[in-house]
Amino acid sequence: MPTTVEVRAGDRPYEVVIGVGVRQLLPGIVERLGARRAVVVSARPRPWVPDPGVPSTVVPAHDGEHAKTLATVEDFCARFAAFGLGRADVVVACGGGTTTDVTGLAAALYHRGVAVIHVPTTLLAQVDASVGGKTAVNLPAGKNLVGAYWQPAAVLCDTEYLSTLPHRQRRNGLGEIARCHFIGAGDLSGLTTEQQIAASVALKADVVSRDERDTGLRHILNYGHTLGHALEIATDFRLYHGEAVAVGTVFAGRLAHALGRIGAERAAEHEAVVRRYDLPAALPEGVAAEELISIMRHDKKSAGGLSFVLDGDGGPALVAGVDAEAVRQVLGEMPRQPLDALVADTAEPAGTR
Ligand code: GLY
Repeated sequence: MPTTVEVRAGDRPYEVVIGVGVRQLLPGIVERLGARRAVVVSARPRPWVPDPGVPSTVVPAHDGEHAKTLATVEDFCARFAAFGLGRADVVVACGGGTTTDVTGLAAALYHRGVAVIHVPTTLLAQVDASVGGKTAVNLPAGKNLVGAYWQPAAVLCDTEYLSTLPHRQRRNGLGEIARCHFIGAGDLSGLTTEQQIAASVALKADVVSRDERDTGLRHILNYGHTLGHALEIATDFRLYHGEAVAVGTVFAGRLAHALGRIGAERAAEHEAVVRRYDLPAALPEGVAAEELISIMRHDKKSAGGLSFVLDGDGGPALVAGVDAEAVRQVLGEMPRQPLDALVADTAEPAGTR
């Protein structure tokens, strides 16, 4: 039986359905929306592209940060127009988080907004990116700098897709699951993959329903992300998002301890959790602390200073104006490993069943 989580954000609530084969629910959802035509933007091969049950066309997409550009949005919108997609029709995004991000933005802009249904195919997209309505593309000046809040009409997390993923891609999704440990979900490592997805989505649904527009509480979803984003950029995205967030989570624990917000035991728990999921816990060799600090100063939430979501007595909170010297010191104390070793495909992660 699939699991359903309701998200109450935007104009109307929508369902995230998680389970084996749930992409088959797509035609029923399209029918309920009253759409007569659909464009399916897909980063997956044809046999895996879901059938929307109405006249449709498939637009090929490429997963990856390098495809998350305004040029891709323009290309998708041009293809929607060429197919004659109307305001009451629907776009379906089938692929990883970068594909749901860029397709979501195209749907938000085309005709000033057409319905979009996400069919995320990676663990990362299922546990985080496809849920909550954030859509975005990158600029040379930074990640996710152009975007819109556009809630999907439904999200279908079909766990059959996960069997097609390279092992490293699955581990990538575990980075977002690991950080849930510190923002209210507790230990998810012993659960089945479907339960881990459902728990992560339920946590996000709760946060997003209380702060859709990221004005306060939603910041906690970015646990481990300030350093994580900087590591992605500094390694030209060779370190995947979830891997970078895992390293960022270890760092967040150490920094919170250095600032007196948490004890040594809680800080050590960060590294233990990350290692439990077989995720990287060290900084890549050759990436200078000063480069990371400079990138982190340009983080959207930093406004020129250094801001991190950090654990503390009252739970995680966005801490602004963190002293650069403290950050430099904690970065200096982090273990280092060659980048190739950090991204090496290792054995089946313990947190996945
Ligand atoms: N991935 C963080 C958020 O959706 O707010």
